[in-house]
Amino acid sequence: MRKSRDTELLEKNEEASASDQSNERPLFGRFSRRSFLSQLGAASIAATTAPLAHAAAAAPVAAEATEKAAVPGSVPVTLRINGQTHQLMLEPRVTLLDALRENLQLPGTKKGCDHGQCGACTVHVNGRRVNSCLSFAVMHQDDEITTIEGLALNGELHPVQAAFIEHDGFQCGYCTPGQIMSASALLKEPIGKEDADVREAMAGNICRCGAYNNIVAAVQQVRRAV
Ligand code: FES
Ligand code: FES
Repeated sequence: MRKSRDTELLEKNEEASASDQSNERPLFGRFSRRSFLSQLGAASIAATTAPLAHAAAAAPVAAEATEKAAVPGSVPVTLRINGQTHQLMLEPRVTLLDALRENLQLPGTKKGCDHGQCGACTVHVNGRRVNSCLSFAVMHQDDEITTIEGLALNGELHPVQAAFIEHDGFQCGYCTPGQIMSASALLKEPIGKEDADVREAMAGNICRCGAYNNIVAAVQQVRRAV
């Protein structure tokens, strides 16, 4: 028999009400939708205020960092960075970039896109430039890795670092470590002499400030001198 319109509306209201109640059913085993959202809000606030708490409780944070390094599934990894050997416990999925920044406290290598698109994370692996966000740390156990922190030798800036300063090759500076690591590796690459060749070879290093003219001038000065 055909239902009356009032009966259909009544049934729809009951379905909607049941659906609202189902939002309070446990999600992921322990959390209801409402408790999940309220905990998410609390976590955001905690993240915002974490830097202030960090200054007041430096020792506990350091202890947490050590525990973090030994999460289940970690494997022993030995890395040679800037001439020093480091023994770490890392999950196999940890990128070289995160190992440098999070485990070895070498924050000079920057995380821009984390997707291989900006070049901010460029380091040298056996003398060649590599996007460290695209490479797992565990893959580099026999490699010689150089970061921006290891480029200056015996207190002397690398010629590319000095040229960047001389030519104002930066504005905010966020892309600069990657630009300098890329440019210093480029000195050994077989590329043409023109500015356009440098631009092409450095195309993987993005500068949001648009300091490209000065970057190219700095790189060309060093190339002419070597
Ligand atoms: S952070 Fe690695 S390429 Fe952007
Ligand atoms: S100097 Fe700001 S992004 Fe390059």
